[in-house]
Parts: sequence; C-alpha cells; structure tokens
Amino acid sequence: MVTIVIDGRKVKAKEASTVLETARELNIAIPTLCYHKDLSPFGACRLCAVEVKTNGTWHLAASCVTPVVEGMEIKTDSDTVRESRQIAAKLLFHRYPETEAVRQVARELGVTVPERKGEKHECILCGLCARTCNEIVGVKALNFEDRGVGRDVETPRIKFDPNACIGCGSCAFVCPTGYVSMEQKGDKRIIWDKVFKMVPCSVCGRYFAPEDQLRYISEKTGVPMSELTVCTSCR
Ligand code: SF4
Ligand code: FES
Repeated sequence: MVTIVIDGRKVKAKEASTVLETARELNIAIPTLCYHKDLSPFGACRLCAVEVKTNGTWHLAASCVTPVVEGMEIKTDSDTVRESRQIAAKLLFHRYPETEAVRQVARELGVTVPERKGEKHECILCGLCARTCNEIVGVKALNFEDRGVGRDVETPRIKFDPNACIGCGSCAFVCPTGYVSMEQKGDKRIIWDKVFKMVPCSVCGRYFAPEDQLRYISEKTGVPMSELTVCTSCR
C-alpha cells in the first residue's frame, strides 16, 4: 500500500493501481470514454484528467494511465482539472458532433451541445473493441492501423482481419458509439460485413452462437464441438 493525498484526504491506495482505480474505490467520480476496468488503459480520450503533484510540481495527467506513488498528491476537481476535461470534451464534440456518447459526455462537462435530429455512429478511436478482441477474446481480429513510428498518426483507424474474427460480437457489445453493428438474420450473424453461420441449440433450437466461435472454444479448451451446442439457457 502507498499513502497518498486525494482532494485533501490522506488515504491508503493499492500499490501499482492507477489514480482512476483509486478514485473509483473512494467513490470519486471521474469521466471516462476509453477506459474499461477489465482492459489495459489506453489514454486516448483525456477526459479523465486530474492534477498530480510529484517532486513538488503540480501537473495534469490522465488518471487512467497514471499509477499512484508514495506521497503523491492528487486533485480531481480543481478549476484546472475541470477546464482540461472540458477542452478534451470540446475537441471530441468538434470531431464527432453527431455521436451521442460524445454529446452526452460533453453535456455533462458543461459544453454547449445544440439539439440535433438523427445520430451518427462514428468510430471515436477509443480502442475498446481492439483491446477486448486482443486481451479478452484473444483472436486479434481488430487492430489499429496507421499507428506507430513513421505512420500517418492523424488518420488512425481500426483494421479488421476477417480471417481471424470468430463473430463473437464482443466488440459490438463494448463499442460506446454503436459504430460496430451486429445483425442477426435467422441462421446468419453479420458483423464487420462478415457473415457467420449460426449454430442452433440442440435442446431449444434457437440459433445462439457462430460456428466459428464454438470451433475456437473447442480448440482452446479441448471440449468437443458436440458438447458445446447447448445454449446457456438450456444448460
Ligand atoms: S469501433 Fe467503437 S469500440 Fe472500436 S475504437 Fe471505434 S468507437 Fe471505440
Ligand atoms: S479514460 Fe483516461 S484517457 Fe480516456
């Protein structure tokens, strides 16, 4: 454990935890858009800004990627913090003015958001889908393109590998904007424009999982396909 001071309160925090995790344990609200507790932090949206004092100097930091260290002082609600979060929200809103997830967080942070009819489901490059695919599912079907040394950093995008995708739909579930859509039509599931054959439950007959996903689970676990064809409701 380390001792820190957060918003004037002296508290113990878990070593190697982040400022955001510590704040959440203390029920201190910090806005986020690219963070998920089960995924590695990414530091893309900058909405989670806090002020931290290290070596005698206050500076702004993204709380989701900043580990707590012994003696650290943190402000989560100063004027500087509020201004920084509002600037981040304005930038996002400027870029994605018709995306509800962005509009909502911008509103919450005091940005004037005019009424608008209709909605766009844009990719805000939060990276949640790619991290879920890589870190939780483990198939690496989604990755950032145009990131890294020598690349055009202005135009990153999510690259889909149809050969790796198993159609599990985790990316659609985690995407905050609805950009990743998943459609189910009878025995077909369509995601990222790839069509997957669905398997019916051997008890109730409901199409419940893509064949590719069950095959992947079978290969990973050694459980035969024939034992995986019962849906969760009938198990
Ligand atoms: S597709 Fe959705 S989850 Fe993936 S980076 Fe874009 S907004 Fe985030
Ligand atoms: S939640 Fe920390 S940068 Fe997005």
